[in-house]
Amino acid sequence: MSLWFGGDYNPEQWDEPVWAEDDALMRAAGVNTATVGVFSWARLEPAEGEYDFGWLDGTLDRLAANQVRVILATPTASPPPWFTLAYPDAMPVTRDGVRLTHGSRDTYCAAAPSYRVAARRMAAALAARYGQHPAVALWHVHNEYGTVCWCEHAALAFRSWLQKRYGADADGLAQLNETWGTAFWGQCYSAWPQVQPPRATQWRGNPGQLLDFRRFWSDELLAAFCEQRDEIRRAAPGVPVTTNLMLPDYQVIDPWAWRREVDVVAVDHYLSSTGPAGHADIAFAADRARSWAGGRPWLLMEQATRLVYADGRVLSRPPGRMLRDSLGYVARGSDSVLFFQWRASRAGAEMWHSAMLPHAGPDTAAFREVAALGAAVRRLGEVAGSMVTAQAAVLLDADSWWALDSQGLRGADLRYLDAVRRDHAALWRAGLVCDVAHPEADLSGYRLLLAPALYLLTDAGAESLGRFVADGGVLVVSFGSGLADAAGQVRLGGYPGALRDLLGIRVEEFFPLPDGDTVPLSSGARGSLLSGARGAAWSELMTVTGAGVLASYAAGPLAGHPAITRHDVGRGSAWYLSTGLDDAAHDQLIAAALAAAGLAPEVPGLPLGVEAVRRRAAGGRSWLFLLNHTTEPAAVPADGTELLSGDPVTGSLELPPGGVAVVREVTHLDRGGLGVVSGINPPRS
Ligand code: GLA
Repeated sequence: MSLWFGGDYNPEQWDEPVWAEDDALMRAAGVNTATVGVFSWARLEPAEGEYDFGWLDGTLDRLAANQVRVILATPTASPPPWFTLAYPDAMPVTRDGVRLTHGSRDTYCAAAPSYRVAARRMAAALAARYGQHPAVALWHVHNEYGTVCWCEHAALAFRSWLQKRYGADADGLAQLNETWGTAFWGQCYSAWPQVQPPRATQWRGNPGQLLDFRRFWSDELLAAFCEQRDEIRRAAPGVPVTTNLMLPDYQVIDPWAWRREVDVVAVDHYLSSTGPAGHADIAFAADRARSWAGGRPWLLMEQATRLVYADGRVLSRPPGRMLRDSLGYVARGSDSVLFFQWRASRAGAEMWHSAMLPHAGPDTAAFREVAALGAAVRRLGEVAGSMVTAQAAVLLDADSWWALDSQGLRGADLRYLDAVRRDHAALWRAGLVCDVAHPEADLSGYRLLLAPALYLLTDAGAESLGRFVADGGVLVVSFGSGLADAAGQVRLGGYPGALRDLLGIRVEEFFPLPDGDTVPLSSGARGSLLSGARGAAWSELMTVTGAGVLASYAAGPLAGHPAITRHDVGRGSAWYLSTGLDDAAHDQLIAAALAAAGLAPEVPGLPLGVEAVRRRAAGGRSWLFLLNHTTEPAAVPADGTELLSGDPVTGSLELPPGGVAVVREVTHLDRGGLGVVSGINPPRS
């Protein structure tokens, strides 16, 4: 049993003598997994229908001989130059009408039939050749699906998607007109060919059209994935197939739909902060991946060794943090620590991207840190396949994300992911491990749900939340939620239409605040910005229709009106925040909600910044992951064996500043029980 350790491996960028060094250094670093072929289409099919598998045959055999398992990618994210010349119509067109050409990657329209045929053929050829290869442990279709296009092929495919959704006849078109609200600005369509992708236009576009275009592209890309997956499954039955979903804030696809089609959830995550926000963000990424995996183990397919993408700048991950950060993912269910990429390239668009083996070679602090990480990961093999469970969740929904970020809540300057991240970070600070969940999912396993900016809520979603509260759950809803229906249209009669009765309130009007402005609340807090993120300066004119008032506005035009409410319903309660709170006040509110839900941190009493997460397996086995993100030592109650050192732990464990520990809490471990493949069983729900 082992965790997967390694990364993208591109030997075709190097001459043969380098390969022997790769083999030796991979052994030295404890690499047991290599992702191969991600962008190799031009090498594998140098001319249409002519294949050259020689170098890949050699690579797979060499890796197998070196005890390195292979994640074999289909190279379809980078069509070769010959493809452009043969099929110029398959080149993508921007919303401004500019047709792009090869020279980078991801240059195709995934709705173009010629691209789909060529991509599928490439996947089938690879599957036929390597479907039975013993080194191939996992298939990796494409790379980070997320390229959209506004060309004529996209227009045709969009129209046909709309016709399936609304009906292809005149009634269907009438339904589309109704749903998109085309009576506004006289946008009524009288025949299907008039319906276009939301290309560059004079001023604001139609929100319904924008939302449906996003939904369409998620489905279209998923269909492209499934075509390749099915070719592979035919030739390689039993070998799991996945694709690497991109985190943190690239929302082109709906992961809740994609998770049903992959055999194991795999994500890429690049750190976006060198400070504490980065630690919380790793937890956020990992909790999302695990939730998409239905709580089962998942794979961290890519991270960077040294590099941090922070607000448009590329910074360096502080030395010594690679282990702690990597264990942050493993603690929350990843069965892998994989990187982009093994060896830093000497040429090409990403030649300055950090790698496991830097340009300066193995005699470097960075490589030594990678090798130390490899050794640590090897000691943790027994956790593979174990699970993380949570009793709280933050609601996350692609439709809300798309609708809010494209339509916007005027004056709110509210970005969906910032709002979700902020609620997640509050639970992270409270020491609680949480999932993300879709509002229409089975929520009965949770005791607390946070609903940040859940802008678009279907009737089914609203009913599901109502049931959750009636059955004893605590629901905390923040402003920007429940405003729109499935079509993205405003729910009338007072905000938040979908949740008004459940919350026992009625909001008449929004009162956006000027930038930097705050409004005092009766609790002593100030309503204003969502701190730690770009967000809304916001308040709302609200009356209660059943809820109790937890805090009121204490000054300004809303003085005396409720700001924060709680409505006891059935066996549970539904809380509403009509304004943003600073971190301290937000944390207080979350603490009150946690108490109402009867939830306690994984390990109570730890200082802020000392993270504790438990993975569990059958037979009562468990592993406590402890990460000290602070500059102070921390004593943590624990019993068992610390796996990184092998030392026994009795009663308490001292974590040095920045230190990590993984404590096996049960001594009688059944080593035969779980295998790596069982660790990446498909989420089928
Ligand atoms: C993405 C891609 C990789 C590489 C990295 C680093 O995650 O999948 O191919 O480009 O980013 O930029």
